[in-house]
Amino acid sequence: MRSFSKSHKLDYVCYDIRGPVMDAANEMEAQGERILKLNIGNPAKFGFSAPDFILETMADSLTASMGYSDSKGIPEALEAIKRYNEYKGITGVTVKDIYTGNGVSELITMSMQGLLDSGDEVLVPAPDYPLWTASVTLAGGTAVHYICDESSDWNPDIADIRKKITPNTKAIVIINPNNPTGAVYSKDLLQQIADVAKENGLMIFSDEIYDRLLMDDVEHVSIASIADPEVFCVTFGGLSKSHMTAGYRCGWMTLSGNKQAAKGYIEGINMLSSMRLCSNVPAQHMIPKALDPSSFGWKDPLLLPGGRIYEQREFITKALNEIDGITAVKPKAAFYIFPKIDIGKFGITNDEKFVLDFLHEKKILLVAGGGFHWETPDHFRIVYLPDLKTLSESMDGLSEFLKTYRQ
Ligand SMILES: Cc1ncc(COP(=O)(O)O)c(C=O)c1O
Repeated sequence: MRSFSKSHKLDYVCYDIRGPVMDAANEMEAQGERILKLNIGNPAKFGFSAPDFILETMADSLTASMGYSDSKGIPEALEAIKRYNEYKGITGVTVKDIYTGNGVSELITMSMQGLLDSGDEVLVPAPDYPLWTASVTLAGGTAVHYICDESSDWNPDIADIRKKITPNTKAIVIINPNNPTGAVYSKDLLQQIADVAKENGLMIFSDEIYDRLLMDDVEHVSIASIADPEVFCVTFGGLSKSHMTAGYRCGWMTLSGNKQAAKGYIEGINMLSSMRLCSNVPAQHMIPKALDPSSFGWKDPLLLPGGRIYEQREFITKALNEIDGITAVKPKAAFYIFPKIDIGKFGITNDEKFVLDFLHEKKILLVAGGGFHWETPDHFRIVYLPDLKTLSESMDGLSEFLKTYRQ
């Protein structure tokens, strides 16, 4: 019989957050086991809910949203995103430079499909949010990973970035605030990255989906607001995390900087945007409310002392650092932590096997560092969205597991 395999385009594409370890967890669930899933940043699954006014706005828009919209989005949404860009200091943007998407995910893939040919290289952080590497690869390009330095609060290593630039490098990706590390980059560091981009004629892709999930009074700076106007930037934002509406699929991207130099690329993006007709229209209706200027600078109480995300971050950082053989840098944003495990102590040579063994024994699902293109098998990611009681039980489980674990 004729058989069908996946396309060769997918041969080197890797997306482990929902990969083989998750398949094993699903299998265990099918057999009646209860699994605690600390692998996906999906706030609604952990009792977080979108504000009522957002839900009502989307529900009220259903009749008006029946048809396709303009491929980039409805005018009210594009205007609201434009205002938000102005607030963030990104200048020279018109509504024509903005595209709404079915989540940032769709736009990441689109932005890479429109840019890359075989042999083109894109600098992507390690660790990364793996969709970036996957999208570069799927688009036919090569992701070249630059190191983010754990000993320096997970900041990108500028010397490493410089070292990895070749004549084939077209762009650099930054994820700020970062998933999986929770790092937020300073203005000075961003300026250094923007300068490297200018010197080497690189485009900048800045994934800022967590820009409203900041803790400890850290300030978020959009790299597009400080880059030289000659540098072409694409900035990504969305409501999945800031408004706990991941399932509604609502994101956007903004083009800024030297658009004349990127004329051909923009033509390609317009074509790809038209090909998918438009993004989810009811979700676009949430944007003007979610980006109302009165909310700019507003701090969600969840992120302040006493708030759930803040207190869970405090707890998980302390609990991890108390386990013998684990250290973890405190995240400043989002809801992920990327702890380090002493692989010598536990004889670990395979991080996927480590999370699989932990899953089988303790019924808790983590993601191995390799899933974020971190080369050494000495990290894993935890989503700290569950409540304190659940997090506490999972940390007790990890501590107990490591007392005897040897690979
Ligand atoms: C850094 C980063 N970018 C993009 C996304 C995708 O978000 P969306 O739900 O908007 O597709 C995620 C989701 O976890 C993420 O962590």
